Amino acid sequence: MNRYLKESNFLMVEEGFTTRDLLENLLGELCQESEQQAFFVADLGDIVKKHLRFLKALPRVKPYFPVKCNSSEGVIRLLAELGAGFACANKHYKPDPELVADPHPAPGGPAARVPFSLQAEISRVQGIGVPADRIFYSSPCKQVAHIRYAATHGVRLMAFDNQVELSKVARSHPRARLLLGITADSIPSAHPSMTFGTTLKSCQHLLETAKEQAVEVVGVSFHLGSRGLEPQALAQAVAAAQLVFDMGTELGHHMHLLDIGGGFPGTEDTRAPLEEIAAGINSALDLYFPEGSGVDVVARPGRYYVTSAFTLAVSITALEEIPMEQPGSDEEECGSKKSLVYHLSDGIYGAFSCLLFDSPCPQPRLHKRPCPEQPWHSSSLRGPGGPGEDRIADGLRLPLLHLGDWLLFGNMGAYSMPASSLPSTEPQPRVSYTMSCMAWKAIQLFQEKPPQTEDDRETLCTPLSCGWEMAETLCVTPVFAPAGII
Ligand SMILES: Cc1ncc(COP(=O)(O)O)c(C=O)c1O
Repeated sequence: MNRYLKESNFLMVEEGFTTRDLLENLLGELCQESEQQAFFVADLGDIVKKHLRFLKALPRVKPYFPVKCNSSEGVIRLLAELGAGFACANKHYKPDPELVADPHPAPGGPAARVPFSLQAEISRVQGIGVPADRIFYSSPCKQVAHIRYAATHGVRLMAFDNQVELSKVARSHPRARLLLGITADSIPSAHPSMTFGTTLKSCQHLLETAKEQAVEVVGVSFHLGSRGLEPQALAQAVAAAQLVFDMGTELGHHMHLLDIGGGFPGTEDTRAPLEEIAAGINSALDLYFPEGSGVDVVARPGRYYVTSAFTLAVSITALEEIPMEQPGSDEEECGSKKSLVYHLSDGIYGAFSCLLFDSPCPQPRLHKRPCPEQPWHSSSLRGPGGPGEDRIADGLRLPLLHLGDWLLFGNMGAYSMPASSLPSTEPQPRVSYTMSCMAWKAIQLFQEKPPQTEDDRETLCTPLSCGWEMAETLCVTPVFAPAGII
């Protein structure tokens, strides 16, 4: 395990030990040191479970994890070890305090983001030994320098959705294998946030041009957005993809890869759980790309894998009391005449940048149990940026909190940390990883390393306290041959 992660930030635990326990230990240490820096606790076992669940629900679909969603070392190494592929993108945005004023900017509003580098994402995954054929450069709009970088690093799978991009790839990466992105116009019930991709009408022309320019188009890609996948929209997208496959095949392209994008739910409180969405996808695949059709299917689940595995701990660094302006307001009725603004040790330019990616407003838990007779107040949370701009949450009901108190936010694994190893002016929250011995054994079993002892064999067949039944779940085959990366 030492080879896996630094011992200092990884803890192998027995079943029953929770992230809450780990948080308590860490907070105990930090309180003694008066340390206020925000940090994450990540349960890698949760990601193992999610992976097995994904493969079981969607046995024909190979996951490519979007690095921009969570590039932490533990996540990337674990997913690499489990055999996932990776989707790298240049269109990853780091919020720029100079430009961002609103965590929920209006569409078409001020350009509030600065692109991160594709090189950083590719080098991150290649640096831990992921082979180039498990990397997908998924941004449809690419800088020529990035295309060349992909070419020199052996990354061939890319997306495109217009002629300019096609010509850039033809000139800079003749060995590329392209997926043609299709858009919401071809998928009537897709969410309007689905912006990238071309219309069905333009596909014919683009496929012809690709042929003329001797660029290999190998399939179709779509992403239906991250605000709740609709089974009907998915089925329509798969049907539209099949039309494009036919066009491509007629023109002599070897069409054999379908990418169904991301957007799978990261928590359980969504309208449709993974299994329901998967049932829709599986029947659409059976209909339009039946087994034996020679078509491989990939997806780019981001938040699905990591949201629930991460908990963020943030401390209160400053607070302001704001007297209630209107007598007779709700606050007065419940005995409180003020509202509170708490400033936290991290904000929307850091760990709360998930607010920029369609994530719901996080609900804090208190580390210290509040005194029962204390009044509760209307409270707002702000990050360390400017008071107006670094807005995390408003209208929360909280008891009176104090400087140095810690707030805990669950479900914080997606889009909450920088996607690259680019130098940053701010210290990044440290991540402490944990995994149960059972999850560790599951990984080994999954990699077809048989349990060593009779004892091991027995535990693996026992349903776990956390509710996952290993014996059943492990009846899935690895998506890629185990790479022996670590
Ligand atoms: C093009 C594209 N694909 C995949 C994803 C992953 O989405 P999710 O994290 O909702 O699975 C995103 C998220 O921004 C995206 O923009």
